[in-house]
Parts: sequence; C-alpha cells; structure tokens
Amino acid sequence: MALTWSPAIPGVPPCDLRRSAVSSLPSARRLSSTIIRSVRASLRLGPLFWPWQKVKVGPLSVSPMGFGTWAWGNQVLWGYQESMDTELQDAFNLALRNGINLFDTADSYGTGRLNGQSEKLLGKFISEFQGPGNVRENVVIATKFAAYPWRVTPGQFVNACKSSLDRLQIDKIGIGQLHWSTANYAPLQEKALWDGLVAMYEKGLVQAVGVSNYGPKQLLKIHDYLTTRGVPLCSAQVQFSLLSMGPEQMELKRVCDSLGIRVIAYSPLGLGMLTGKYTASTLPSGPRGLLFRQILPGLESLLFSLRRIAQARGKTMSQVAINWCICKGTIPIPGIKTVKHVDENLGSLGWRLNSDEILELESAAQDSPKKMIQNIFQTA
Ligand SMILES: NC(=O)c1ccc[n+]([C@@H]2O[C@H](COP(=O)([O-])OP(=O)(O)OC[C@H]3O[C@@H](n4cnc5c(N)ncnc54)[C@H](OP(=O)(O)O)[C@@H]3O)[C@@H](O)[C@H]2O)c1
Repeated sequence: MALTWSPAIPGVPPCDLRRSAVSSLPSARRLSSTIIRSVRASLRLGPLFWPWQKVKVGPLSVSPMGFGTWAWGNQVLWGYQESMDTELQDAFNLALRNGINLFDTADSYGTGRLNGQSEKLLGKFISEFQGPGNVRENVVIATKFAAYPWRVTPGQFVNACKSSLDRLQIDKIGIGQLHWSTANYAPLQEKALWDGLVAMYEKGLVQAVGVSNYGPKQLLKIHDYLTTRGVPLCSAQVQFSLLSMGPEQMELKRVCDSLGIRVIAYSPLGLGMLTGKYTASTLPSGPRGLLFRQILPGLESLLFSLRRIAQARGKTMSQVAINWCICKGTIPIPGIKTVKHVDENLGSLGWRLNSDEILELESAAQDSPKKMIQNIFQTA
C-alpha cells in the first residue's frame, strides 16, 4: 500500500515528475512514452494538487498544502523538547525538497521561556537549508501577530513584525496575519490591529496580509476597511476539517471565494483525532487527552469512513482527511513534528477524493454527536 509519499508513476521520483509536468511534455525526451501518457492523463483529470502546482495567495505562489509549526516550542500541549530540533530540521528539509513552500507559525508560539521558538527554528532551518537557492528563496512564511492587550498602536505592531523578522532571519514575511480579532471582548482595540496590518504592509515588512479566527461578518468589516486603505486582504485562516465544517466555516469559505481571499485550514487533522491512531483507550498525554476523551467516542462513524476510504485507495486516514480539505478549496496546514509526519502528509497530494467519497465523509461527520471546540477568539 502506498502509505507514504510516493510518486503517482512508479519509479519516477517526484522531482522528475515535477520537471516533466511543468515543461512541455512532448519535448520531455528523457521520459518514456508510457510515462508521458500517464502524466498527460493525470493533467487531463484536472488539478491533482502536486506540491509544485502552486496556488495563488494574493501575490504569492504557495504549495496546495503548507505545514504548521505550533508544536515547535510548545511544551504544554505538544510536549516539545529541544532534543526534537534535529528531527524538526530533517522534517522541514524533507518538506522543502518535495515542493512544500508554505509554513505557518506565530509570534506567540513557544511556551514560557521558549516564546518565539517556532519562528526561531524556522529561521534557523531556512538559513541552514542545503539545496538550490531558489527553493530557499521561495519559502513563504505565514506568521501571526497576537492581539496582546498592550498592542494598541500601529507602531507596536510594526515592532512586533520586526521582532518576528529577526527571529525568522528573513527580510520580508510572506503573509502577516492577525492571530485573532478582539471584537468579542475589546472592540475598541480592533481598529488598532487593522492599522497595524496596514502599517507593516506599507513599510514593506510583509508581502501580503491575512487574518485568523475571523468569522464572515468580521471578515467583511476588515476587508472593507483594508480596501479603503489600499491594502488587499489575501487569506483567512480558520479551523477547518471534517471535525470543523459547520455553517460558519462554509459561510466564511463562501464569503472568501466571493472576495478572492484564500482560506487556510488549520487543525485539518483535528489535532490528531482524524489520524486514526488515537482511541478512547490510547489517548495522547496532557490537555489533548482530556479533549479527545470527550470527542473520540462519538467519532466511530467518521473514523470508519475515513478508514474505509483510506484502505480502498491505499492511503492513510490522515492523507484522506487532508485531501478532503484540499477538495473543499482550502489550503490545509497540518501540524508536523517528525519526518514520518511530513513523509506521510505529502501523500495527501497528487490525487483527489471523488464526490461520493466526499459525501460519505461529510455525512459521517455530520452524524458525530460532538463537534470540535472552536477557538475562544473566533468571531462571527
Ligand atoms: N490560527 C490559529 O489560531 C491556529 C490554531 C491552531 C493551529 N494553527 C496552525 O495550524 C497548524 C495545524 O494545526 P494543529 O497542529 O493544531 O493540528 P492538526 O494539524 O490537526 O494536527 C497536528 C498533529 O497531528 C499529528 N500528526 C500530524 N500528521 C500526522 C500523521 N501523518 N500521522 C499521525 N499523526 C500525525 C501530530 O501530533 P501527534 O503525533 O502528537 O499526535 C501533529 O502535531 C498548527 O501547527 C498551526 O500552525 C493555527
């Protein structure tokens, strides 16, 4: 079974496939005619979302899946230890070498003295990456700026952005995102956040701006405001998965589509619940275990469908869950901590679920009695 990352055409490494797919096929003389026919057939099927088939986010070109780095530096929820850094670097290198160029982080990632560790590690890994220079140059970092109560002026956001740039060791951030809106609890601060985004964009510190945890109503407000300031809003990051696909997420997707804003799907694996490796008797340690204990017992039907489709396709449950997010038109950013995670999650690309499979998964998900909890800062 093709459980991990493997090219669709046996014996052809992904890099060769990439070269052949982007170059003019008839002149790709180094490939056999059988291979050329297979690639042509796969291209005719429509977008198959290979890592090198980049999608646009504002002015940026990113892989159809990125990777999330919340765990890098987070001891409380994700059990991070500095001894994991070598593995994290190997995982990052593997992702980059296989065409993934979008990495999501935040200035608040990293617990206690490790605050900022996720950005720092990304900065180190980018600068130490051994490979073609253009691969490194094309990395798109999407970082998020926390709406801390003391960040109330555009200047404070600009300073926050400069600190992230220092930790990341880069000149420009790809997507500068507001981590959350303060509309629910400090509405007067909200305008300062928006002006902060404008300021970092106007100073050329970020190539594009985005939001996170904004619902459709609040998204429209910030979109309209940014438009008056001449700043395009390029992305909206939200919890989006088979465990988080309610009317709010679908409405946000609809509004984003109408405005040309990309939806970035966070926690596409339901923090790990959709991987199939956890059960009511095999729970992760820490706070995740408490959450999973409540939700997992109601997921039998969904996990059954995920497993059934995965087995029928020679895929894994994680690959199916991530592919579903892509089929819904989002850019998923599964969190990764190991080479194995990267290797396996790369296998989410280059194929797509059919409409019957999507229907089966969604109806199984709707049957689940318990839904994923939403971020406390998520707005309407
Ligand atoms: N904007 C926001 O407020 C916000 C909130 C949350 C997340 N995010 C972003 O979204 C990213 C992804 O979300 P997430 O990390 O919360 O959750 P997720 O992607 O749903 O789950 C990630 C976890 O699943 C497990 N996993 C990943 N791939 C696997 C595989 N192939 N096989 C088995 N297990 C696998 C790993 O944990 P274990 O091995 O420990 O199970 C991994 O840490 C974050 O890293 C972050 O960048 C943003």
